[in-house]
Amino acid sequence: MSSKTTGADPEIDANPFELSPAEMKAMGYRIIDMIVEHSVNVADKRPVTQVTREEMDWLLQEPMPETSTPFMEVLDHVNKNIFDSSAHLDHPRFYSFVPSPNNIVSTLADSLATGFNLFSGAWVSSPGAAELEMLTTNWLLRLFGFPVLEGGGLFVSGGSMANLTAMVTARQNILGDDFSKGVVYWSDQTHSSVERAARVMGLRKDQIRIIESDEQFRLPIDRLKNTVEQDAKNGLHPFLVVGNAGTTNTAAVDPLYRINTLCRHHKIWMHVDAAYGGAAILCPQGKADLAGIELADSATIDPHKWFFQPYEIGCLLVRDSNRLTGTFRTQPAYLRDLTGAAEEINFYDFGIQLTRRFRALKFYMSVKTYGLGAFRKSIENSLALAEKFGQWINDSDNWEIVTPPSLAVLTFRFNPSAKSSSATDRNLDAINQKLSDRIIAEGKAMLATTLVNGRTVLRMCLINPRTTMDDLLSTMATLESYVDEEFSN
Ligand SMILES: Cc1ncc(COP(=O)(O)O)c(C=O)c1O
Repeated sequence: MSSKTTGADPEIDANPFELSPAEMKAMGYRIIDMIVEHSVNVADKRPVTQVTREEMDWLLQEPMPETSTPFMEVLDHVNKNIFDSSAHLDHPRFYSFVPSPNNIVSTLADSLATGFNLFSGAWVSSPGAAELEMLTTNWLLRLFGFPVLEGGGLFVSGGSMANLTAMVTARQNILGDDFSKGVVYWSDQTHSSVERAARVMGLRKDQIRIIESDEQFRLPIDRLKNTVEQDAKNGLHPFLVVGNAGTTNTAAVDPLYRINTLCRHHKIWMHVDAAYGGAAILCPQGKADLAGIELADSATIDPHKWFFQPYEIGCLLVRDSNRLTGTFRTQPAYLRDLTGAAEEINFYDFGIQLTRRFRALKFYMSVKTYGLGAFRKSIENSLALAEKFGQWINDSDNWEIVTPPSLAVLTFRFNPSAKSSSATDRNLDAINQKLSDRIIAEGKAMLATTLVNGRTVLRMCLINPRTTMDDLLSTMATLESYVDEEFSN
C-alpha cells in the first residue's frame, strides 16, 4: 500500500524521542551504576561542599540548546557539576536539619513509578496504584492508632503539604466558608511550614496565636487554655490547634492527651505534626513518647524523613476520610467519566493535587522487601546511638549537653566553663559558631548550629543508619583539634 492510501506520513509520524532498546538499556545501566556507586561510596565523599552562585553559574549556565548532545556526555556533566557539588544528606556525617538516608529499594521503586508514569489520581486510570495507596495508608493509620474503616490518608509531596492539607480541612470542617473570626494555635517551636500554610490559607496575623513554649520547648497547656478561652470570650472562633510530635529544633513532644481534652471541649480540630518524630512510633520508646497522637483529628507523617524514603513523600492521616472529600472534592465535566463506584477511591478527591505520581509504590516495596522489622531496628539503633553519644558529651570535659537526646535529636556545645573556666556566654556563642563554620567549610561534617534559649549550640539529628559512634567520635576529635588550634591559650 502506498502512503497515500494508508495516510502514513513518515515526516509527521516520526517520534523524535525514540531510541533503540540497546541505547535505552545502556543509559539505564549507566544510571544504575552511578546510583549504586553513590550508595556504596557515600561515606568517602564530602558530606557538604560550599559552592558560590558565581561558580555554579559558570559551571551550568548556557542558552537552551536546539540540537542534541550525546546522553553520556550530558550525564557526565550532571554527575560532575551537580552531584559532586551538592550536600549529601545521606552521608553518615551529615548531622544537620533532618538528614535523608533513603534506601535503595525505594530508589529503584521510584524509578519504576516514573518509568510507567501511572496517573495516581483516579481509580479508573490506575486501580492498582489506588489500592496500594489505600493499603499503605491503612498500614499507617493502624500504626498510629487511627480508625482504619472511617479513617483515611494520602501521600503528598512532604510535611509542608500535609500540614497545609490538614489545616484547610480543619478550617472547612469547623468553620465552613466564613473564617473571618477563626483563630489557630501552636507553640513557638512549631515548624515554619505551619505558619506558611496559614498564610496560604489567607489567615490574618491577628488570627494566629503563637504560644511561648515551656522550659522543655513544649506547648504549655495552661497558656493554651487561657488563650483559647479568652478568644472564645471575645467572640472569636478557635478552630485549630497544631501539636508537635517531635519539633525540628529539639524533638520536643507536646502534651498530646491534654491538648486533645482541650480540643474536644472546645470543638477544635487537633492536628499533630509528626513529620519528623512519627516513625519512632515503631518502637516501644517512641510509642511511649508519642502517646496521644492516636486521638488527633489529623496527623502529618513524613516518610522521606525517618521512614527512609527518597523525596518527595509526605503523608496526611485523618480520623474521618469524609472530612477530606468534603473539603476537596470537585466535579469538573471533563472528569465525569472517572468518578467510578463509591468504594473506588479517587485520590484527587482527598487533597489539592489532581495529577499525582505513584508515591505509594516506594513505600510499599521497601516495607515488603526489608520488612517493618528492619525499619524498627534502624530507629532503635538511632535512639540508642543518640543516648550513647549524649552520655559521651556528659562525660567529657569541654562539652555540655544543652538539650538531651529526644527522638535521636540532641543539642550540645563547647563549654569548658560548665566544668571549670570562665568564658562568657557571648564568647561561647562565637566559639561554637566558629567550630560549626569551620567543620562545614572543610567538608568534614555537616554540623550546623541552632539557637536554644538564644544560645548558639550545635545540633545533631542522628537518624542515618550509616552513622556510627566512630563517626561521632571522629567529628568530636576534629572539633577538639580546632579548639586546640584556635581557642586555647
Ligand atoms: C516537624 C516538621 N514539620 C514539617 C516539616 C516540613 O516537611 P517537608 O520539608 O517535607 O515539607 C519539617 C521538615 O523538616 C519538620 O521537621
